[in-house]
Amino acid sequence: MTAIMFHLNGAPVAVRDAAPTTTLLEYLRGRPLPGTKEGCAEGDCGACTVILRTPAGDGLATRAVNACIMPLPMAHGAEVITVEGLDDHPVQREMAARHASQCGFCTPGFVMALAARPPGAPADRAATEERLAGNLCRCTGYGPILAAAEASADDADARADPAADAATAATLTAIPPLDYTWNGRHFLAPTSEAAFAEAAARDPVILAGATDVGLWITKRLFDPVTILSTLRVRELATIEERDGALIVGAAVTHTAFHAAIRDRFPALGELMQRFAGLQVRNAGTVGGNIANASPIGDLPPAFIAAGATLELGHHHGRRTLPLEDYFLAYGSQDRRAGEYVRAVHLPLDGLARLTCHKVSKRFQSDITAVLGCFALRLDGDTVAEARLAYGGMAGIPARARYAEAAMVGRPYSAETVAAAGAALAQDFAPLTDLRASAAYRLRIAANLLRRDHLERTGTARTRLAGEAGAGLAA
Ligand SMILES: Cc1cc2nc3c(=O)[nH]c(=O)nc-3n(C[C@H](O)[C@H](O)[C@H](O)COP(=O)(O)OP(=O)(O)OC[C@H]3O[C@@H](n4cnc5c(N)ncnc54)[C@H](O)[C@@H]3O)c2cc1C
Ligand code: FES
Ligand code: FES
Repeated sequence: MTAIMFHLNGAPVAVRDAAPTTTLLEYLRGRPLPGTKEGCAEGDCGACTVILRTPAGDGLATRAVNACIMPLPMAHGAEVITVEGLDDHPVQREMAARHASQCGFCTPGFVMALAARPPGAPADRAATEERLAGNLCRCTGYGPILAAAEASADDADARADPAADAATAATLTAIPPLDYTWNGRHFLAPTSEAAFAEAAARDPVILAGATDVGLWITKRLFDPVTILSTLRVRELATIEERDGALIVGAAVTHTAFHAAIRDRFPALGELMQRFAGLQVRNAGTVGGNIANASPIGDLPPAFIAAGATLELGHHHGRRTLPLEDYFLAYGSQDRRAGEYVRAVHLPLDGLARLTCHKVSKRFQSDITAVLGCFALRLDGDTVAEARLAYGGMAGIPARARYAEAAMVGRPYSAETVAAAGAALAQDFAPLTDLRASAAYRLRIAANLLRRDHLERTGTARTRLAGEAGAGLAA
């Protein structure tokens, strides 16, 4: 058995007496380090933001994460910095000088989200807005906070200390893999896929970024006997391009995936920009978004439209299947005992044709009401191939086969698109819930096809990320 070992504000820590489901936030506040606040305990408000630094190359990769939904063992082998660990940071100075805090409850979270900006990373208005999309303030207004971010950037960059980072990285790298037991509960974090696959065969709960599972812990008091983490499995954290496809490992975070695709495939890049806030994207993984199989998960419809193949791993070998076949019914997937999501294969030509339209009430950090992802291949004016995939329209992410049939072989015209829109009623019988009524969902799903047609044919201008109305339905 190993202890949970990490660095906290510069000092090494070894924890042997905490349940594996203890959140990092609970641990910090119990130390006591009460600067890190609890607002929502579900990853939404950013009040609990801390900095997590992990070895990368010769140095450390820095990212902001939500401590409230992060099980403490996920800090193993990392450096955790809380607001108490900042030493008169330029962000703190500028926030104070510009009165960027009122009641102060959200302030440590904002400070940590801004202080997590890696040296030299953009600090312009757009980059800062993206960095703060996961932080909510009820009192002050965001103007002074944004101004403080910009004003502090140069001084913050000047604090970079690569030699100190390299020394910390060497100490963290020497920490052995985690195999932790407390009171009959286990947390395993193997570093090789062989060890992971062997442990997966013993029916544990698999944990990746914990941005879904963390909420089961805080909201449903989920307390599994064994948790198996993908976090340190090297083979699951790679992105490679091979045979005309991008092969994305299950443990690749949304942030890493976003960086890999945002310039090359802007439609998918914009969808990723609208996925949660940065703290969630820094922890959550591509594999978790697929395995979770939520009907309103954002990646499955995009990947299905692009023609993705899912690769499942097992102690005894691997198998592949079209991603759409993985989702059988609400809460049921084609995953056998001992199997785990290994990677998703995304055809480059499918990604190049992809357009995505997410309908949610807020532009960022909001769950989808309806998501339409479309990949069309035209032969002249005629639709040669149509892959239309939706989220929020059924118990699973699914293709609209009737609507596709209404398009293929026909001219790509307003009439064809209207016929496909009408056919959606044969494809889906959506639910009414808090986010949207069934009638609204059907109507908006058809309107997304219309919007896509108008944008592709140049009749309507594509709205840019952040522009008024960009997140709303056509
Ligand atoms: C504030 C907030 C905002 C969010 N916004 C969005 C959003 O905009 N769009 C969206 O789609 N989602 C959103 N989510 C949901 C969540 O972030 C995603 O579903 C995320 O991709 C889950 O990945 P994870 O690595 O955190 O998974 P975890 O929470 O670690 O696991 C999720 C599920 O997948 C299983 N699992 C994970 N990896 C594997 C694997 N390799 N093999 C087998 N099973 C596995 C786990 O057992 C669990 O059942 C949001 C969540 C929060 C808290
Ligand atoms: S307390 Fe709100 S995100 Fe953690
Ligand atoms: S200053 Fe009060 S919540 Fe932000």
